[in-house]
Amino acid sequence: MENLKVILTEEQIQNRVRELGETITNDYKGKFPHCICVLKGANTFFSDLIKRLNLNITVDFVKISSYKNGTVSNDIELVNGLTDAVKDRDVLIVDDVLDSGKTLNYFVDELKKQRPTSVKTCVFLNKPERREIDVSADYVGFNINCGFVVGYGMDYAERFRNLPYLAELL
Ligand code: IMP
Ligand code: MG
Repeated sequence: MENLKVILTEEQIQNRVRELGETITNDYKGKFPHCICVLKGANTFFSDLIKRLNLNITVDFVKISSYKNGTVSNDIELVNGLTDAVKDRDVLIVDDVLDSGKTLNYFVDELKKQRPTSVKTCVFLNKPERREIDVSADYVGFNINCGFVVGYGMDYAERFRNLPYLAELL
């Protein structure tokens, strides 16, 4: 496709997701984590990741809107909330990109009000240079330092989510 430069191949992504799955499986041994997918962008990563968790888990989905129609961050808004209670659960939040940090920071704070036992975060991509809020993820797929990326669930104006690889939008 034009104007796209491949950053991570499908094979690189799948290998890393398998490693992350093993790490998370080891860390949660004997526990029953509640895994929350932040829609829409984390959908693809989430689906692949949970298949690599050799644990009893439950899942839920939230929709948090931050990027409305482009590459510039707007206000954070919880569009669709949780359906299941998180009280006394070990919660693992799964998101696509940790960029400014606003989305994850907002959502972790919201969740903690419901008194879960623990909250950890897992992001497919970390863009440390872009951070505006002091927040980090417990599990990171890849640290990247490039421009706006699409594919593997991530979009530009709702396009490119279906690409099995990650590409920079040039
Ligand atoms: P933050 O609140 O600035 O950390 O932004 C996080 C959200 O912005 C992610 O969940 C993505 O939906 C979106 N985002 C940030 N960088 C990118 C990118 O390079 N491509 C696509 N979406 C991105
Ligand atoms: Mg997102």
